[in-house]
Amino acid sequence: MNDVIKLLNNHRSLRKFTDEKLSEDTIRTLVGAAQSASTSSYVQAYSIMGVTDPEKKKALREISTQSYVEHNGHLFVFVVDFYRHKELAKQAGTEISYDKTENLIVGVVDASLAAQNLATAAESMGLGICYIGSLRNDIKKAGEILGLPEGAFVLFGMVAGYPELGEDGSKKERLPFEAVYHENTYQKIEEVQDDIDAYDQRISDYYSSRTNGKRDDKWSEQVTEMLSKKQRLDVDTLLKEKGFLRQ
Ligand SMILES: Cc1cc2nc3c(=O)[nH]c(=O)nc-3n(C[C@H](O)[C@H](O)[C@H](O)COP(=O)(O)O)c2cc1C
Repeated sequence: MNDVIKLLNNHRSLRKFTDEKLSEDTIRTLVGAAQSASTSSYVQAYSIMGVTDPEKKKALREISTQSYVEHNGHLFVFVVDFYRHKELAKQAGTEISYDKTENLIVGVVDASLAAQNLATAAESMGLGICYIGSLRNDIKKAGEILGLPEGAFVLFGMVAGYPELGEDGSKKERLPFEAVYHENTYQKIEEVQDDIDAYDQRISDYYSSRTNGKRDDKWSEQVTEMLSKKQRLDVDTLLKEKGFLRQ
């Protein structure tokens, strides 16, 4: 196994950091790595924001309810962004639209690929990271705090920093290969049920051992509960306000 694959396989989210801030140099290196990701039709439909203002970090923490949004080496926010495309078109005396579902997919994929490049680059430098989707608990307010114009919305944040002493996270096993990889024809659930059942049991044991038996939910129970909630219904409204999904 080469070093890159070892690094990827060793990923775990980290949520406790020292007070040491990321240097300007490190931030530039990370953003450069993020920008090197592939981008649909070269459109680069995202922006990356760095949040250093303590008041703004505090306000974003309140939205997320997670302390590490305030206490970290650096807080990045990934923004799906067609604002600059729209303005450049205006300057050229023409108009563009980004109101189709396809445009939304392009922006979300572009921003996510950049984010994952940044995450991997950070981990390769000994930093820890955690994505922060909970900024979408109030997607409108998060965008207002950051001064986002039309055509731009908060997709997620990412905290990065130097791991607190002893903080090594915990590697969470993923679904088995057989359940995720399908060759030529999609395999229905019955064909991989045994693999998923065995995985469920291992995850239940994992939680049980980490919580002294206080928690022992299976992966399938966890995701069923999560996906049965009707959450963040205001995201759709905000996206339409920002000019997305209007078609
Ligand atoms: C888009 C996205 C949003 C996430 N949002 C949060 C979040 O708001 N808070 C948090 O603590 N973890 C968040 N996570 C981290 C996931 O919970 C974590 O990746 C998952 O449980 C697997 O654990 P691991 O990253 O340690 O392997 C997010 C991950 C992704 C990809």
